[in-house]
Order: sequence, then structure tokens, then C-alpha cells
Amino acid sequence: MTVEPQTRTTDREDIAKRLLRSSAKASFDPLVEIDWDALVDPDRYAIRPERLSLYGTELWETLTEEQRKELSRQEIASVASIGIWFETILMQMLVRHAYDRDPTTHHVQYAYTEIADECRHSVMFAKLLDKLDAPFYRLDPFTHLLGKVFKTVSNGPLTFSAALFVEEILDQLQREIMADEALEPLTRAVSRIHVVEEARHMRYAREEFARDWHRRGALVQHYSRLVLGAVAYYSATRLISPEVYERIGLDPRAARKAARRNPRWTDTKTWAARKVVATLDRAGAISGPGRYLWRKAGLLGRRGAAPSTAGPEAQRA
Ligand SMILES: [Fe+2]
Ligand SMILES: [Fe+2]
Repeated sequence: MTVEPQTRTTDREDIAKRLLRSSAKASFDPLVEIDWDALVDPDRYAIRPERLSLYGTELWETLTEEQRKELSRQEIASVASIGIWFETILMQMLVRHAYDRDPTTHHVQYAYTEIADECRHSVMFAKLLDKLDAPFYRLDPFTHLLGKVFKTVSNGPLTFSAALFVEEILDQLQREIMADEALEPLTRAVSRIHVVEEARHMRYAREEFARDWHRRGALVQHYSRLVLGAVAYYSATRLISPEVYERIGLDPRAARKAARRNPRWTDTKTWAARKVVATLDRAGAISGPGRYLWRKAGLLGRRGAAPSTAGPEAQRA
């Protein structure tokens, strides 16, 4: 079925108008909203223990309760570092997106609004690192370089599918954190702000991706699937920096290996990615050699895992 171009434009503008209205009503300045003077409680987990990369391993059994809680703070800090890395990439891609378009349209004004949100988020995540007594966990030089290339050359479908991927993974983890009263209040407050504003970003990314993807020829789609697979692979396999393990007194190589082989960690990544995998898979954006990378990163479940943990998309893979 062919949709009239006029209808599509109207839809695009209607959605962007609603997103702008919602941004005007519910946007937050984390510098004001969050109590940055409150002390981090060393007796609380920053994220649920079952979401940690070593949970359920033999190595986990050797850790003291203090080490486990510190691991939770450092793993959240590592995820926040990836968040800053990708938000910086996304801001540049959105600036490039806006550069070619008409700023009087609602959808371009929404792109500018999202850039402003991401600026505040990156400052918020950076302050979180400080409060958690964590460094900015830098990516390895190769992944850092790949990010630099990607933000310079990405096309429309890649910009919005990659954004959706990273945003959905963070969203799933943060929704769980914000709802759990037993967890550290600071990570809950940061999660709450991010979840509210990212809900709009994800809506925008889904719309922009779908609109652009179906217009693209076979060659561009083919190339985009492969690059998207690489983005998913490098982001998901680097969520937890090996330095995190070092900080709690573990051998980083051994701990990284244990995490990579940990079926529960694979299940966590599959669970966090299940919605974005369903969306992109339905659109035909996860196939060919790119699909191999999604699987290798543990985003499509484990072979033989129960459907409830791995999700229907993964079982089909
Ligand atoms: Fe963000
Ligand atoms: Fe975002």
C-alpha cells in the first residue's frame, strides 16, 4: 500500500508537534532536580544484583557483599560512560540531520530539542560518575575510532536505528532501577529523568527510522544492516569495562572472560534488547552478516534458552 506523501508529512509534523508539547511540559534540569549533595549509601545496590555481569558465576560466589555492591556502582558507571559516548555521537548525527533540513518544521525543531536533552543527560551522567567515585570508563581506542567514523558517515536509517538501540537498552535497565525502592536513591533519580525524556526520543527515532528505511534501495539497506550489526556488537560487548573488575580487586581478564561466558549476563542483554530487536527485525534491519554480530553480542538470546528469558524474536533467530 502506498501512503500519499502529504499524509506522511502531516503525520510526521503531528507527531513532532506532540513531542514538542510534551517536552515543554515534562523536561528536567538535573542540576536542579537532583540532590547532588546527598551521600551515596554504601549499603545499597545501584542496580539489581541479578543484572550484574558476574551474577551467578563462580567468581560471584567469591565476592563479599561489599564487593558486590561496589561492583553494582561501577557497572552502572560503566553503562553511564557508554551513555555519554553514544549521546555525544547522537548529538553530532542530529546536528547533521538538522543541517540539511528546514528548521521551521516541527520535526527539525524536535531534533534540536533532543540535542538539548542529550546535552543535559551527558552532564548528568558525568556528575553521576563523580558521585559514584568512578572514572569515565573510556572505550578501547579501536571502538573510540569506530564511533568517530560512524558519527561522521551515518545515514538517516542508521542514525535512528542506532539511537533506538542504545536508548532502549538503557531504558529497560533504568525503568527497573527507578521502580525498585531498595536501590540507591541517586541512580533511581537519574534513571527517572532519563526514562521520561528518552520515551520521546524513542518515539521520534522509531518514526524517523521507519519513514527513511522503507524508502532506501537494496544496496543501502544491505550496507546499513551490516553497520547496524557492528554498532550493536561494539556497544553491547563493551557495556562493562574490564577496568570495573580491576576496581573491585579482580583480575580484569579473568572477570571479563567469566562475564562473557555467563548465561545470565547474556539473558540480561537479550532481555534489555528485546523490544528494539522486535522493532528492527520486523522492519528487516537485522539479517544477513549483520545478524551474526547481533547474535555474537548476546542480543538474540542463547541457543536452547527458554522463550521466557530469551524472547520470541531470539527463538526465531
Ligand atoms: Fe539521553
Ligand atoms: Fe536520547
